[in-house]
Amino acid sequence: MKAVKRLSERLELKPYIHHISVQMEQQLQTFLPAGWDVPSTLTESMLYSLMAGGKRLRPVFVIAAAEALGGSREAALPVACAVEMVHTYSLVHDDLPAMDDDDYRRGKLTNHKVYGEALAILAGDALLTHAFYAATGCTALGVAPEAALAIVRDLAEYAGPRGMVGGQVADMQGEQGMTELEQLRYIHLHKTADLFMFSLTAGARTAGATEQQLDALRRFGSDIGLAFQIQDDILDVIGDEAKLGKKTQSDSKLQKVTYPYFIGLDASKQEVERLTASAKAALQEANLKDSRRLEEIADYLVQRDH
Ligand code: IPE
Ligand code: IPE
Ligand code: MG
Ligand code: MG
Ligand code: MG
Repeated sequence: MKAVKRLSERLELKPYIHHISVQMEQQLQTFLPAGWDVPSTLTESMLYSLMAGGKRLRPVFVIAAAEALGGSREAALPVACAVEMVHTYSLVHDDLPAMDDDDYRRGKLTNHKVYGEALAILAGDALLTHAFYAATGCTALGVAPEAALAIVRDLAEYAGPRGMVGGQVADMQGEQGMTELEQLRYIHLHKTADLFMFSLTAGARTAGATEQQLDALRRFGSDIGLAFQIQDDILDVIGDEAKLGKKTQSDSKLQKVTYPYFIGLDASKQEVERLTASAKAALQEANLKDSRRLEEIADYLVQRDH
């Protein structure tokens, strides 16, 4: 009885995030159906990056959006796992020698440093593909087939050529010199904000969101995602490697065009605050049952140091 009561009380943000991470990691342990014959090094390499920790923000946004509409966490969990798989694949590929050439991620050696480049590429491919399989698991937990179809379509749109991959390509081409802040905005919106937008709208879809709610959540995700990537750029300059679990100065080494490079550190910090305020204003238009958790996450992200 006591335990039930404790669970029903509203958690502080940190335990809330921790609780979702634990639930999601439990599901990820058995992410490949029993009976599938998969090369063990592939499973190992996928799990190496998937279980290396990380802030789990995208899954938290999936769950928080579902719960903000009064939806069930259980039904949203398969989608939370799916977006973390896509995000993890994007990191494995982002760290490859052909891309950012980084040796540390989530406090551990990068996937290719442990398993070699070929397996890291294939583990990334497998995480991406399997995410779609995982996402469809929500239909067995009560999500309407139409909503599940929209989630799968959105995942392809926000992660693919007009989404995260498009942003990564623009990021690589940006190294060669860029003069417009609008181009940098494009990079950040797509390489990073798109998966936040996906997470929020997908969570909301599991809970039967209206078009108006989806639209407001997209605006929230776009602003918060842009702010998040600007903060990532700032931390690449002034962050602590031990806390970040990845090397700093990676952007300057690769001559990346970032917000601090373009407008300076102070203006970048102000932009993070402005975008966070704008995100919170958009949230007010979403007509949610309870928007407090999403607001708390937004506030937490402005101050993050990792
Ligand atoms: C890192 O994302 C890549 C970016 C889009 C900036 P996170 O900072 O969310 O990485 P993890 O998941 O916590 O490792
Ligand atoms: C990465 O941006 C975005 C994606 C992986 C899609 P960064 O290259 O800035 O991310 P970090 O700093 O390596 O985490
Ligand atoms: Mg990169
Ligand atoms: Mg990188
Ligand atoms: Mg970065």
